[in-house]
Amino acid sequence: MRTLYTSHQRGGAILYESARLSRMNRPSPLLRQVRRTHSAAWKKNPHLDSIIRVDHAGELGADRIYAGQMAVLGRTAEGATIQHMWEQEIKHRQAFEQLICKHRVRPTVMTPIWNVAGFALGAGTALLGKEAAMACTVAVETVIVDHYNDQLRTLMEDPNIDKEILQTITKFRDEEQEHHDTGIEHGAEQAPFYRALTEVIKTGCKAAIAISKKI
Ligand SMILES: [Fe+2]
Ligand SMILES: [Fe+2]
Repeated sequence: MRTLYTSHQRGGAILYESARLSRMNRPSPLLRQVRRTHSAAWKKNPHLDSIIRVDHAGELGADRIYAGQMAVLGRTAEGATIQHMWEQEIKHRQAFEQLICKHRVRPTVMTPIWNVAGFALGAGTALLGKEAAMACTVAVETVIVDHYNDQLRTLMEDPNIDKEILQTITKFRDEEQEHHDTGIEHGAEQAPFYRALTEVIKTGCKAAIAISKKI
């Protein structure tokens, strides 16, 4: 038989249940300490948290793109050129891994996705030919150079500017520009459907940047 409760009884049950759930979800003292410390670092420079997270994600993606290109084109005439760019991307990724630890920034939750997507993009375009691989490089590096330039403008407006981050991003921006120019010199514009291909990749990169800034 169905039990009928008064609204007063129902209200009490809801209050009891929400108090029980909040006790279950209460963070441990260690987690509370981490949050306090993290929040203090974040308050010192509100831009830094998102800058480091998104750049770490981008450099991880770039590392995986070149790894994918090398898996397909490593033994061709383009191998040495791609290897050189890949080695620079590995150094970029490592630098942001150190910054993530130093500033206690949470990496993006999308890390496993960018890992797979980056490799697939690099290998997929390389399978279309060396020109398509170079077109992929041009598209990605165009977006990254613009993105780094935007960050440099934001950082330079900051009175408490972080010189280490500023120098790191300036150096990497210059190297990404070199990668872009290398792509053009190695026939990117001769890729089939060059304009459509690069526009699709640029749109994907911009979406990845927007997502990684937030989550
Ligand atoms: Fe890079
Ligand atoms: Fe690059």
